[in-house]
Amino acid sequence: MKIGNVELNGQVALAPMAGVSDRAFREICVDFGASYVVSEMVSSKGLHHHSRKSAELMTLSERERPAAIQLFGDDPATMAEAAKFALSYGPNIIDINMGCPAPKVNTSGGGASLMKDPLLCGRITEAVAKAVDIPVTVKIRKGWDDQSVNGVEVAKICESAGAAAITIHGRTRAQMYAPSADWSYIAQVKQAVNIPVIGNGDITSPFDAAKMLSETGCDMVMIGRAACGNPWLFSRVRSWLEEERLEPEPSAAEKMRVMCKHIAALCGERGEKYGMREARKHMAWYVRGLVGAPGFRREACEISTLSEMYAFAGRVIAANE
Ligand SMILES: Cc1cc2nc3c(=O)[nH]c(=O)nc-3n(C[C@H](O)[C@H](O)[C@H](O)COP(=O)(O)O)c2cc1C
Repeated sequence: MKIGNVELNGQVALAPMAGVSDRAFREICVDFGASYVVSEMVSSKGLHHHSRKSAELMTLSERERPAAIQLFGDDPATMAEAAKFALSYGPNIIDINMGCPAPKVNTSGGGASLMKDPLLCGRITEAVAKAVDIPVTVKIRKGWDDQSVNGVEVAKICESAGAAAITIHGRTRAQMYAPSADWSYIAQVKQAVNIPVIGNGDITSPFDAAKMLSETGCDMVMIGRAACGNPWLFSRVRSWLEEERLEPEPSAAEKMRVMCKHIAALCGERGEKYGMREARKHMAWYVRGLVGAPGFRREACEISTLSEMYAFAGRVIAANE
């Protein structure tokens, strides 16, 4: 599987998730076999105004490769300028966000609201593709709402404008995250274009990944929410897809070992005070399905130092022995 000239070593990618898929989490997912990762979305306007916070989101490490930086915005020239600037952070791919449903992003004309104007989607793709010498991809939804399902049209326009791959989340913007994603629409997008298609929406198990690949014909699957607190899902998906071997779920002790490594890396990058604030949601996800999870989730909200986190991990392991 290749996106432009970028070789991918497998068929399962980590989805961009603002506030979740930061560098520490992306690295853990790559350790477990994610074949491709995408940064949290970065505002092209923020970069234009020299926002340090926007620029920080683009820091990539050599451990997480291949990696894309995802940009959002509605102005072709500003997006092209942002893409050129992003190159200094060494991405393998630039991804354009045309699927974010957040009102904050949509009211400024970016994310999924771009799909209301397919020609603008094409102009943005063309401007960005002309500005950089690495592959440019776009991430879309099925459409804005049930009355304007146009993901196929947008995918074709972006392909003509120079996109090297399309990621399609099988829901409209109006649907946000429910009901379930329409995988038959992913198949329609795959049929309509000649570039690789990455299918996305509701993959929670190795079997789902295999089913999406076979039902839609997509070239790769992308996993978001199900990877939260569950990065070994990438390894489980890959061993199922590549060897038909079903890896068991990890033990509580292994889950806590990975959680500690992840949170320690997060604090190493962002500092303990900020890192532990971000860590709480991850801790709550890591205890999902374990004995005592509801109580541990409440406890996680109160934890503010790494040493408290290690003690927490010890209590979770003890409760699950
Ligand atoms: C917390 C959160 C943040 C997200 N942030 C982004 C983002 O920055 N860019 C983007 O294209 N999609 C974003 N998404 C959408 C996901 O990439 C993905 O398309 C969606 O969650 C469906 O996949 P899933 O069912 O595997 O979670 C976000 C989703 C969630 C839950």
